[in-house]
Amino acid sequence: MNGKLQGKFAVVTGAGSGMGRAISARFAVEGATVAALDVNSEAAQETADIIESHGGQAISVRVDVSDAASVTRAAQLVTSRFERVDILANNAGVLDSYAPLLETSEELWDHVLNVDLKSLFLVTKALLPTMIDRGGGVVVNTSSIAGFVAGGGGIAYTSAKHGVIGFTKQLTADYGRKGIRANAICPGAVETEMTQSLFESGDAAVMESVRAVPAGRYAQPEEIANLALFLANDESAFVHGAAYLIDGGWTVR
Ligand SMILES: NC(=O)c1ccc[n+]([C@@H]2O[C@H](COP(=O)([O-])OP(=O)(O)OC[C@H]3O[C@@H](n4cnc5c(N)ncnc54)[C@H](O)[C@@H]3O)[C@@H](O)[C@H]2O)c1
Repeated sequence: MNGKLQGKFAVVTGAGSGMGRAISARFAVEGATVAALDVNSEAAQETADIIESHGGQAISVRVDVSDAASVTRAAQLVTSRFERVDILANNAGVLDSYAPLLETSEELWDHVLNVDLKSLFLVTKALLPTMIDRGGGVVVNTSSIAGFVAGGGGIAYTSAKHGVIGFTKQLTADYGRKGIRANAICPGAVETEMTQSLFESGDAAVMESVRAVPAGRYAQPEEIANLALFLANDESAFVHGAAYLIDGGWTVR
């Protein structure tokens, strides 16, 4: 039986953990060959191993998505191994400890903006030419509820995740007619390594905000992967430049 991504080649960043791993696994189950990219090469390889142990196809590539030279090397490796790139999921990201402006150092600002936003510029720029040359492709960018409202992160994270949505819209406006379909995913609280320490800390404000979500819980990474799959396959062919909230109702308040 053919999957929804049969014969497609997908690149997923931040693939060594959480949503990146779940998205990689889901894409592979649906028939895609996956390049699992992560700064943690062991974690990326683990994702590739999980995919292969379930009969899928994957390679792992180490990349620091915030570093231009590293991205160039990774893109060269991917394009030498894959005949084309049909899907790019820009998922890698880091949180900022919910730091407000006056507690945010320039170093923290640069780190969060570089990993969460500049990475989209670097990785997408490196792979877009090959996507366009081969007739187009799909870009799925991971933003956050912090791309819509305050309180999903600190000043750096919220600025970066708003930027991810802006990047997605401008990419759509500039390259839609060249076959590039880009959309953003905006999750609420998801149970991953990123949020584990936060949830475990029992911080009253954080726990209260999770409890107050209409869904009454946080999401599992696989639930976010379902949305990534929808945006990555042709069922969503008329969805361009959108930013999809998947937050259990967090932002209705
Ligand atoms: N967990 C949540 O509640 C939540 C909510 C909304 C949005 N998000 C976003 O979802 C995405 C995935 O988050 P997650 O919760 O799965 O986190 P996670 O920490 O479980 O996974 C993030 C992955 O990104 C990798 N990574 C970090 N810096 C990198 C770099 N410079 N280069 C390459 N890889 C790098 C990490 O090694 C890790 O494997 C992020 O963009 C995050 O901001 C998370």
